[in-house]
Amino acid sequence: MTLETSALIPGLEGVPIAESSLSQVDGEGGHLYYRGYSIEDLTQGMQFEAIVALLFDGQLPDTARASEVTRQIEAGRTLTDAQIKLARDVAQLTHPMFALQATVAALAPKTNNFNQVDFNAAQARGIELVGKVGHLVGVIAQAAAGRPYDGPRPGESHAHMVLRMITGHDPSALHERVMNSLLILQADHSAANAGTFTTRVVTSTRAEPESIISAAIASLSGPAHGGANEAAIRLFVNIGSAANVESYMSDLLARRERVPGFGHRIYKVKDPRSAVIQRLADEEGLLRAKEQEFYRISLDIEEIMRERLAARGLWPNVDLFSGVVFHALDIPIDFFTPIFAASRTAGWVVNMKEQLESGNRLFRPTQVWVGEAPRPVH
Ligand SMILES: CC(C)(COP(=O)(O)OP(=O)(O)OC[C@H]1O[C@@H](n2cnc3c(N)ncnc32)[C@H](O)[C@@H]1OP(=O)(O)O)[C@@H](O)C(=O)NCCC(=O)NCCS
Repeated sequence: MTLETSALIPGLEGVPIAESSLSQVDGEGGHLYYRGYSIEDLTQGMQFEAIVALLFDGQLPDTARASEVTRQIEAGRTLTDAQIKLARDVAQLTHPMFALQATVAALAPKTNNFNQVDFNAAQARGIELVGKVGHLVGVIAQAAAGRPYDGPRPGESHAHMVLRMITGHDPSALHERVMNSLLILQADHSAANAGTFTTRVVTSTRAEPESIISAAIASLSGPAHGGANEAAIRLFVNIGSAANVESYMSDLLARRERVPGFGHRIYKVKDPRSAVIQRLADEEGLLRAKEQEFYRISLDIEEIMRERLAARGLWPNVDLFSGVVFHALDIPIDFFTPIFAASRTAGWVVNMKEQLESGNRLFRPTQVWVGEAPRPVH
């Protein structure tokens, strides 16, 4: 018998779980790079589809390659009538994130024998999933709003499709551009965040890709992870106006509650994705009066947190400001995290492929036993 006696590392803090060359988080300097390119640069004029190509290929696509991946995502987003009906039915029962998780699992084939050594097949299934998950978020949004199904249009960009299906109207060029940047911004964030680590763990069991992404969606749903953008905007709604921020936050901090949108295991400075979102928030004509108020509230909260908690390393993360911009795009609050999932599916499927290519050893850590010694029943 092997006794499991290693020292516990709570949350696996500081423990490397994979070798990766996809996205790099510089927590001290406050930078995020995909394949060596900074997130600030990648969100200035590139299409989300081209970023999917970059993540898979390791280099920026030329026009032909970008068109090829765009066509693959477009072809891959097809859903059967039964899948659409299932998504619409589940949307009536539960939060959109759980509806998405359930429906993505149901996209898996009837067989359970994914050929993990065929890396091209893994890539094709992954690109398909990027298309399908975005489409499903739109289907669930239409059903939740009581609207009939109105699916993807030929030639429509991923950002346009997701936003149009969620809001029920054609986005303006500005809204499509902002949505495209948000999709890029949230596409990947190292192999070791909870959702992507989940992807790696489930991949190591040789599961089907749809099953892997469904598990990752479950992981992302929690308020300590992707769900924080929803919690942040609900906080702003509760605060109501910038005039209330000081007293509301003083009470909240006195109760030692966690402030959504602050803190990160890796970033020791302001999350670089916040700066990109703030650049988007500053786009002429994007924020209406309501969102300008939310934005003022978020800036005041940032100031209060800087004064009182910066010494403890609590800085804004991506979720403090993202909700303000989602709100400006007319996206219902319940759909902030599903959009995050649609975007992050790109990173998840590329991590799945990288995990497969690395030899894919089954994750099987150990535990520290703190229970009873073996003892007789009688
Ligand atoms: C992201 C998060 C889970 C990281 O947590 P972590 O690295 O495990 O840090 P810990 O939970 O160990 O917290 C360390 C300390 O900071 C405090 N803290 C962490 N985040 C805080 C927050 N957002 N507001 C107030 N205090 C916070 C904890 O209460 C703890 O204090 P203590 O030592 O007095 O008990 C955490 O910061 C959090 O819950 N943030 C809010 C949710 C959020 O925005 N998530 C999105 C992440 S992108």
